[in-house]
Amino acid sequence: MKFSVLTLFPEQVKRFLGESILGRAEEKGILEIDAVDIRDFSGNHYGKVDDTLFGGGTGMLMQCEPVYQAYLSVCSGDDTKKPHCIFMSPKGAVLTQEKARELSKYEHLVILCGHYEGIDQRVLDEIVDEDISIGDYVLTGGEVAACVVIDCISRMVDGVLPNSEAYEEESHMQGYLEAPQYTKPNIWHDKAVPEVMLSGNHAKIKEWKRLHGLYDTWKRRPDMLEKLDISAEDWQKILQIEREESEKRKQVPPVDE
Ligand code: ADE
Repeated sequence: MKFSVLTLFPEQVKRFLGESILGRAEEKGILEIDAVDIRDFSGNHYGKVDDTLFGGGTGMLMQCEPVYQAYLSVCSGDDTKKPHCIFMSPKGAVLTQEKARELSKYEHLVILCGHYEGIDQRVLDEIVDEDISIGDYVLTGGEVAACVVIDCISRMVDGVLPNSEAYEEESHMQGYLEAPQYTKPNIWHDKAVPEVMLSGNHAKIKEWKRLHGLYDTWKRRPDMLEKLDISAEDWQKILQIEREESEKRKQVPPVDE
């Protein structure tokens, strides 16, 4: 899969995405991530790509032509193969796992990052297919948001993670949160790993994970659970976990003053 990030700060994007799992996926040729400097398309000696706002207002706005030329530079020229273009913006639809999965199906994504007060609307209308936000807050620019989007999408691309199970059981993938996980030692600070985890019974472990995932979702993100059709039987089991957890809390000795 190919990502072309159009930005005024290509180094920021490259530094983040060149490391770790994504860096290795790029080395293996599974991902191609290009950061294109919009300033290279300024058309002037100073690399100036912004100007004051018509109609008044503070700050500067990125101009149409440099953004448009940067966009054209990553298009193949074949109009039937236009890449899908997203604009990072706090006005966009908030990124979800489902959205990321949908975006992971594109062969080539162009990700446009704004800075200063934003970008002239006319070029956005011409090249952008959808706006994406990473949350209801405002960042200084779209670069960090673009890295979040690329990271989230890339780990669903075949070959980036060692196996697809690595992410299929994770929080949000099945519409609910992942259950707690444990590693050695079996007992740490008087806390034992749940017995079932040491049982070797895979069906029981799977069911434990499913129910504890649902339980955690109920406690932490009830809004997510509302979207799932939980059976009466599962509710009984979730409430049983709640009783067990509340017993455990009672057993915790008081902390010495
Ligand atoms: N640019 C500025 N704020 C942003 C946000 N919350 N999401 C995506 N892009 C942004």
